[in-house]
Amino acid sequence: MNAKIIGTGCQLPAYAADNHYLSTLVETSDEWITERTGIRMRHLAQKETTTSLSVDAAGKALASAGMQASDIDLLIVATITADTETPSTACRVQAEIGAVNAVAFDINAACSGFLYALHIADAFIKSGVYKNALLIGAETLSKLVDWTDRGTCVLFGDGAGAVVLTASKQGGVLSQSVGSNGSKWEVLSCAARPVRNPVCQSKEVPGYLRMDGQEVFKFAVKTVPLCIEDALEKAGLQPEEITHYLLHQANKRIIQTVAKRLKQPEERFPMNIDQCANTSAASLPILLAQMDTQGRLHPGDKLVLSGFGAGLTWGACVLEW
Ligand code: ACO
Repeated sequence: MNAKIIGTGCQLPAYAADNHYLSTLVETSDEWITERTGIRMRHLAQKETTTSLSVDAAGKALASAGMQASDIDLLIVATITADTETPSTACRVQAEIGAVNAVAFDINAACSGFLYALHIADAFIKSGVYKNALLIGAETLSKLVDWTDRGTCVLFGDGAGAVVLTASKQGGVLSQSVGSNGSKWEVLSCAARPVRNPVCQSKEVPGYLRMDGQEVFKFAVKTVPLCIEDALEKAGLQPEEITHYLLHQANKRIIQTVAKRLKQPEERFPMNIDQCANTSAASLPILLAQMDTQGRLHPGDKLVLSGFGAGLTWGACVLEW
């Protein structure tokens, strides 16, 4: 049995900030941000939380799958911006939607989080442990961003995307290629709360996202094509047989470079980065849900999903729609 996506949904915060607005906060310009990244807008949470965005995206995914929350037996939320250190976002979503029969937990793999969740769910479904899974990628990255650092604050946005997976004899996940390299963790990081207890009073302050942008760029354009090629080989498919390549929406130039390296036309690489910016673990399921709603996905289409992020982490998945 393969894990097959049978429903999608997404939710973005109501407020959207354009590049001109950011140029009132830091020394930047619409021209710089658009040329270097492809980003024009990003949605920022006001009343929304990681949990509320997840709940809304999950509700839409369940409706599009024609399933009840009680049908779900595995619920995974991929996020680095949970609303509470504990419990997990997944447990809070479970309570709100009434997924009473699910085992629920979060995973932290930054922008690769959704692909890691897919990797886990596929293994559980293939082995017969679980049948129906709800996977959510959700972030309110705006709370981790240093709004005085122009090198990072222009890049990120908030949002959530969700998919429902079910065990299927046909189609679904055909292959995956997933990896991590913890030795490069400092390239992109955000410190947690420092230790303060009766025997240790750390002077560190809670951190913000810090990134060596050029290192991340070089890592992405080298690793993403390699893991896509690996996943294609495992699926027994050639690059030209893929209908759409959905890549993590971090930078338009990264996506264009990957397209060139795979020798595939850019039109096969759909993008929403201009409207949503980098929403980390939410980026792939948001793009997938938007394409699904727009009627751009058809039975039999072969899709590649691929991403990279802090850790460093990366992954690619080949699936049949
Ligand atoms: N506005 C104006 N100027 C800026 C801005 C800004 N927002 N940010 C940086 N600059 C300046 C720099 O200070 C530098 O000025 P200098 O030449 O006087 O020193 C100049 O622009 C060039 O800076 P670079 O860092 O060399 O710019 P680059 O072309 O590399 O683009 C960027 C930077 C967009 C960050 C790029 O490196 C990138 O996209 N990297 C990948 C980032 C990424 O994908 N991150 C997500 C990872 S996913 C996750 O897990 C969260």
